[in-house]
Amino acid sequence: MDNGAWDDVPCPDLHPLKLFDAARRQDRFLYVSAPMVRYSKLAFRRTVYEYGTDICFTPMILSKEFNRSHLARDSDFTLSTQGPQPPTIIQFGANSPIELARSSSLAAPYVNGVDLNCGCPQSWACAETLGAALMGRRELVRDMVIETRERLARDGWAVGKEKEMENPKGRSDRHIDFLTIHPRTRSTPSSAPIFGESLAILVEKYGDTLPILLSGDVFSLTSLPLSPLLSRSPQTSTITTSTGPSRALSSAPQENGSALHRHPPATSSSTPFRPSTTKLAGLMSARGILANPALYAGHETCPWSAVESFLRHAARAPLHLKLILHHLNEMCGPGMGPDKRSLLSKAERIQLNSLTNMVDVIDFMDDMIERKTGRVGGVPRQEE
Ligand SMILES: Cc1cc2nc3c(=O)[nH]c(=O)nc-3n(C[C@H](O)[C@H](O)[C@H](O)COP(=O)(O)O)c2cc1C
Repeated sequence: MDNGAWDDVPCPDLHPLKLFDAARRQDRFLYVSAPMVRYSKLAFRRTVYEYGTDICFTPMILSKEFNRSHLARDSDFTLSTQGPQPPTIIQFGANSPIELARSSSLAAPYVNGVDLNCGCPQSWACAETLGAALMGRRELVRDMVIETRERLARDGWAVGKEKEMENPKGRSDRHIDFLTIHPRTRSTPSSAPIFGESLAILVEKYGDTLPILLSGDVFSLTSLPLSPLLSRSPQTSTITTSTGPSRALSSAPQENGSALHRHPPATSSSTPFRPSTTKLAGLMSARGILANPALYAGHETCPWSAVESFLRHAARAPLHLKLILHHLNEMCGPGMGPDKRSLLSKAERIQLNSLTNMVDVIDFMDDMIERKTGRVGGVPRQEE
């Protein structure tokens, strides 16, 4: 937590399905930042939120540890007590109904939703029946979901049925509200393209029943891996692009009394793919948004302003130096999209990596911003 105690945190009141509805009304995909162990912490979540991301996932957090240790809660789950708390989904790793239900109930007042990781392929996770191991334990997944929903309802977090769409608390008529699909098998390397045809089959079959997010190879809005979805759509020939302005889905939160400037999500003119041409509801990015937090605002490569934004947020919600260096390397490197321009050369990144304290990092980045853009860098020197 960057400031204060849990008791001070305002309760997020926006149900994720409201955000899905709003995006669909605008005929654009919902833009989501993926759960990423180590990386999707508060400073990063606030950065991507500033650049058009609608929903941010936390890294996977182990339910068992979260339930038992306040140290685990404090280190794994950083919240904002002041300033913007982007719409946040907390992701748990769990293999027991009661543990998932307990951790969800503990987190519920501070987040907009709860997610269960059913895809992590790492051997330590699978050995503990977590992540991808749950793909072979469907009954256990069902039991975890049902027990968690019952517990949340008992605690006052129930949401209404589909007919209560206008209820400010939200709506739901399924055990799960939305689903993220990563179209690779447990053993497919992430360097291999996603299985677009398999995704197309699943989206076609279930896309009308519940909102589906695609997670995989979302690297830039102009190179989305969606062609198999479109070739199945009967409406493909009606694709049009809009040049109208797009609105942010929620009003900008206040930071220290002033409105946080949010770069609006990209308009559909930057991508020909729109929900009205597929049954896919949204996009989730991990490696792409790590390298370019401004991806959903339509930037093909990471702009300097996003680097400055990240450092500003990291000053308010601090991260370990090594983690900051890793983020900066990702943002200043060649990125994942087709445009391979980078903010820093390899030699400059090596120089950056040799730095041993935050003051030197800020001086170095200020110097680079001034040299490359001609303007004086606005990186904060201390917490404001
Ligand atoms: C550094 C890193 C950490 C990740 N951590 C998680 C995690 O905590 N939970 C999860 O479900 N997936 C995690 N993933 C997987 C991503 O969420 C995503 O499904 C996968 O990387 C494919 O998306 P991409 O092509 O956009 O990278 C992680 C991926 C990366 C690169």
